[in-house]
Amino acid sequence: MHLTLRQLTLFESVARHLSYTRAAEELHLSQPAVSMQVRQLEDAAGMPLFDRMGKRIYLTEAGKEMYAYARRIGQQLQELDEVMADLRGAQRGHLRLSVATTAKSFATRILAAFSRRHEGITYSLDVTNRKTLLDQLANNETDLVIMGKPPEELDLVVQPFMENPLVVIASPEHPLARQSGPIPLKRLEEEVFVVRERDSGTRIAMERFFGEREIRLRTGIETTSNTTIKHAVEAGLGLGVVSLHTLRLELEAGTLAVLNVEGFPILRHWHLVHGREKRLPPIARAFQAYLNGPEGQELGSHSLPQKS
Ligand code: PGA
Repeated sequence: MHLTLRQLTLFESVARHLSYTRAAEELHLSQPAVSMQVRQLEDAAGMPLFDRMGKRIYLTEAGKEMYAYARRIGQQLQELDEVMADLRGAQRGHLRLSVATTAKSFATRILAAFSRRHEGITYSLDVTNRKTLLDQLANNETDLVIMGKPPEELDLVVQPFMENPLVVIASPEHPLARQSGPIPLKRLEEEVFVVRERDSGTRIAMERFFGEREIRLRTGIETTSNTTIKHAVEAGLGLGVVSLHTLRLELEAGTLAVLNVEGFPILRHWHLVHGREKRLPPIARAFQAYLNGPEGQELGSHSLPQKS
């Protein structure tokens, strides 16, 4: 059957209105032009699509079938149009991503891989603490956020996408680094800990973990930087609790040791988050889909160093 999209579009309008006049008005065409196209479609079908009774027209059996297909094809065309518009949008534009301090260790790697698929995009990457991330979400100051678990009372769309194990680190010279069997949690009460600031996700998770087990830790230096914790621990100023994601280089170089402590690692997840009311720009939706797709999952699984 040889037919054109134009014939289908005109037919769909006539069938919807059951009127050549109204279809012609809707499509800004003359009525004879519409009738002629519909007649050609009837010729192609080899059957009449409309019956006429007095001034009114009705769909024939064939007309009803044709109408159902014409509508579906029309919807598909519209969807195609939207997808193309989205892709055009996703080819350009700017992605505002805000990430928790700890997530910077892998966020740049993920952005680099994503940007290879979306040339011409510009990015802003804000690295900040948990409290600021929540403020940014509340004030619509960012598109997407990567953070530990956000509070449940906020109206957010939250997608977990990768594990975030928290481990206890020590200098390789520390006596506990040489202990092969599991270190009892209680033993940690004898140590001093270099810790993250109070609003940090790592600190909150660590305090909850020890609190629930009634372990009282002694804290020494408090810092907003994982790098400072690592340097301080390496220098022998105490133990630390950090995400395994931050330890790639140190574990490779053997400058820090992950302790085998009872109950560890504390298993958390990273989440991709945005406000439920937020209208995400096409590039942000593309980033979401990327992180949830096979490539994103693969990247996630390679973001953890091998413990040695
Ligand atoms: P943080 O967040 O860098 O603020 O500790 C990470 C997390 O929530 O695990």
